[in-house]
Amino acid sequence: MYADALKQHGKIFAVAPMIDWTDRHCRFLHRQLSRHAQLYTEMIVADAIIHGPRERLLSYSPAEHPVALQLGGSDAGKLSEAVRIAADYGYDEINLNVGCPSDRVQSGTFGACLMRDPALVADLVTAMKRVSTVPVTVKCRIGVDDQEPADVLPDFLDRMIGAGADAIWIHARKAWLQGLSPKENREIPPLDYALVHRMKRENPDVFLGINGGIADLDQAAGHLAVMDGVMLGRAAYQNAGLLAGVDELVAGSNPAGVATTDVDWLKLRDTMMAYAEEVIASGGRLHHVTRHMVGLFQGFAGARRFRQILSAEATRPGAGIEVIAAAFAAVDIDSGPRVQPEEKRLAG
Ligand SMILES: Cc1cc2nc3c(=O)[nH]c(=O)nc-3n(C[C@H](O)[C@H](O)[C@H](O)COP(=O)(O)O)c2cc1C
Repeated sequence: MYADALKQHGKIFAVAPMIDWTDRHCRFLHRQLSRHAQLYTEMIVADAIIHGPRERLLSYSPAEHPVALQLGGSDAGKLSEAVRIAADYGYDEINLNVGCPSDRVQSGTFGACLMRDPALVADLVTAMKRVSTVPVTVKCRIGVDDQEPADVLPDFLDRMIGAGADAIWIHARKAWLQGLSPKENREIPPLDYALVHRMKRENPDVFLGINGGIADLDQAAGHLAVMDGVMLGRAAYQNAGLLAGVDELVAGSNPAGVATTDVDWLKLRDTMMAYAEEVIASGGRLHHVTRHMVGLFQGFAGARRFRQILSAEATRPGAGIEVIAAAFAAVDIDSGPRVQPEEKRLAG
């Protein structure tokens, strides 16, 4: 679907790559809530794939498709090698990280600091495209440090397009590479949606997606009226229930945006229990699965108890899947979210 959507400029909703958050268990959960959302791995450094525990880093459940592998690196040879290795795992897209500002990433001279060297990034994309059988995409910022986004972003995009990038996801704020933590770099540099929207209007033939600070599906729908894709990170993770409205949103049947559509919560419970049982049987822990479920019932009566049960009991040594059943039993599922996004917006 992703490759077709890229070609046909269909609309795509994506859950952003997030280190420590969007691991395979998180993606499995998200996939139960949306069939079409494009899911991303955490960033994996090319060197780790070449030299590290490949199977652990790259394996995932077939149920997660469509899923994109995000790579970090700045060496064309290593990135190509990582793409070749990853091909055996059947990812639907390979994405290059040009947005991560952490010190660790800067010392490897990749991530956001690559915004300073668009020619190099173009070479990386060309090299990855040469060996990839699936779309190769880029996730970038609008600039770094003292760069003027309105000057540098158009040139950066031209070069990515010239190199054959199949899609470009733009986090609509700069990264300040000195003095801000990665967390601050997701909050402090101001968002410039207007610039990103303008880039889309100036590049009608290229798939461009927007990311950064998008809080709910109403806002997502607003961006999708202009952009080809919308990518949510923290909101999708912390309030995963919103993913239940995504398929309707991208199908275009409700362009005004939707809140939460009907989810079969009991089916979800059973699916997650069966999944967690498999994870435990293969040496994992219940908590590895349930830690991603904590925000599932935002706004429902009983959500607090749900969170407490998962946080306290799922972490106990030997905890089993009955904890999931107990947590779901604490929620008044029929109550639905108490505060609908519509009410929140009017109130705020
Ligand atoms: C915990 C966490 C980890 C992240 N890890 C990555 C990453 O591995 N690769 C990446 O490109 N961006 C990463 N990001 C940035 C997000 O992909 C996204 O660009 C950012 O959170 C802004 O989107 P949002 O406002 O919808 O959360 C991370 C964000 C968070 C909160």
